Amino acid sequence: MKLAVIEGDGIGREVIPVAVKVLDAFGLEIEKVPLELGYARWERTGAAMSDQDIETIKGCDAVLFGAVTTVPDPSYKSVLLTIRKELDLYANIRPVKPLPGVTGVTGRSDFDFIIVRENTEGLYSGIEEIGPDLSWTKRVVTRKGSERIAEYACKLAKKRKNNLTIVHKSNVLKSDKLFLDVCRQTASAHGVEYSDILVDSMAYSLMMHPERYDVVVTTNLFGDILSDMCASLVGSLGLVPSANIGEKYAFFEPVHGSAPDIAGKGISNPLAAILCVKMLMEWMGQSRSLLIDEAIVDVLQKKIITPDLGGTASTTEVGNAIEKYIRDALG
Ligand code: IPM
Ligand code: MG
Repeated sequence: MKLAVIEGDGIGREVIPVAVKVLDAFGLEIEKVPLELGYARWERTGAAMSDQDIETIKGCDAVLFGAVTTVPDPSYKSVLLTIRKELDLYANIRPVKPLPGVTGVTGRSDFDFIIVRENTEGLYSGIEEIGPDLSWTKRVVTRKGSERIAEYACKLAKKRKNNLTIVHKSNVLKSDKLFLDVCRQTASAHGVEYSDILVDSMAYSLMMHPERYDVVVTTNLFGDILSDMCASLVGSLGLVPSANIGEKYAFFEPVHGSAPDIAGKGISNPLAAILCVKMLMEWMGQSRSLLIDEAIVDVLQKKIITPDLGGTASTTEVGNAIEKYIRDALG
């Protein structure tokens, strides 16, 4: 197994080295291929990544990614979006699950759901024109794109509570009618119980009744927005991991960004990146990934936590404690 490791910018450079040490503690046969991509490289060389980098990544099986600063400069091409497209990582999987002893804005911990975000089309089509008086972006919904994300979500629902929520805005965006219809048909074909809800109602409902949801499937931008919002249910953006999955490749990244405001201070929360390692190991079929959950419970109980969770520990201190727990457990 070959793993591309991309720290990226800002706190990506702090949390990924910690996550890699945790992965190393398992002693798996993984060849790591470090790549330096992102905004810092763009500033230095004028290119955030090259075609050669894409080829290198395609020569790997999976990617562990920190965060890359994305800027609106027309000459800056987002590394993240380019990789998602090039590797056809169509399913963005974002679990929203409380961690023991940590509560978010609502103070509750009775929820456990997964956002399945379509990752290749919608308002992220990249088809747009920017002018001084008129700018537009084309929202693309295809049958094929909707079918494969609906399939993914239904298969996931079958392994869980068999309950699918389809999130859309088809009352205004008629393009969402296709997405909704395909999701309904796919759910029926799989025998998955489903309901649908408009994205604005869903935002409200997720805050009021997060316990109602199991698997939530939605289009690209809605999934992007709802997943950040749901991080507030968990308690910190520093706690939510994500996986971008395609037919061939998988790519793991924390939901948080590069956080330039706290970068370099050594206080970023590494747990989201460490949970990405857990998702990577699950994708590899490694059941020992469960040890990561145990180790996280341990540091939370001992209050070895970063300032976003009210603690005083540094990124490395949290990482070291988790690594030690795993090494001790493995003997
Ligand atoms: C995410 C991020 C990205 C997105 C940005 C950085 C391009 O917000 O992974 O959620 O919008 O998908
Ligand atoms: Mg986002």
